[in-house]
Amino acid sequence: MTGDINTKNIKEEEEMKVTLFNCSPRKDGNTFEALKIIKTELEKESILTEIVQLGCENIYGCEACGTCKKTQSGFCKIEKDPVNNAIKKIYESEGFIIGSPTYFGSITPQAKAFIDRTGYANRAAGTKLKRKVAAGITIARRAGEVNALNQINNLFMLSQCIIPCSTYWNIAIGREKGAILNDKEGVETFINLAENMAWILKKIYL
Ligand SMILES: Cc1cc2nc3c(=O)[nH]c(=O)nc-3n(C[C@H](O)[C@H](O)[C@H](O)COP(=O)(O)O)c2cc1C
Repeated sequence: MTGDINTKNIKEEEEMKVTLFNCSPRKDGNTFEALKIIKTELEKESILTEIVQLGCENIYGCEACGTCKKTQSGFCKIEKDPVNNAIKKIYESEGFIIGSPTYFGSITPQAKAFIDRTGYANRAAGTKLKRKVAAGITIARRAGEVNALNQINNLFMLSQCIIPCSTYWNIAIGREKGAILNDKEGVETFINLAENMAWILKKIYL
């Protein structure tokens, strides 16, 4: 059920990669700013990074067709959106981050659809996310962001991921584009999260 231990003996830290998914339909909004902060810190630690924009795409929900259980391929039957490409990027990365704004106390529909299909396909294939280092971040104007963060964490906790932590919940506050940069504690939380993520990655993979 659980598959092989998902670590490999990487010698060079430049070979480690973290993929960061922006599940906001505002591609250059606050979630993007937050992911850029984390990306910058990870790159300081010589970790490869890539931000992938998912929130602007039409992401279809899980159809509960069970095809992923039959094929055990680790991928979803639905090919008309970028989810399988995103799943492939996760499988090829040692770590990944899912970022979402808070919409009515929840993650965006795009984030939810992405999580459902990634989670089901990976578990059907023997939990391919096992021991990937994974974190969520959420943004809100005012409230509901911790609930949204918990929704992202559900994917990691049911997929045997290793979750790095920070000095607060991984959240920041802001409404207009770029406003989270004024949330000093939020910015610090993301910087500390990135440092802890890099530290864990090096412990596991170097
Ligand atoms: C449909 C919708 C629902 C929202 N719901 C909430 C909410 O429940 N709580 C909150 O504090 N902010 C809410 N917001 C505000 C956004 O979370 C906030 O503007 C955030 O900065 C957007 O991130 P982005 O720039 O990455 O898209 C909502 C915004 C939209 C468009």
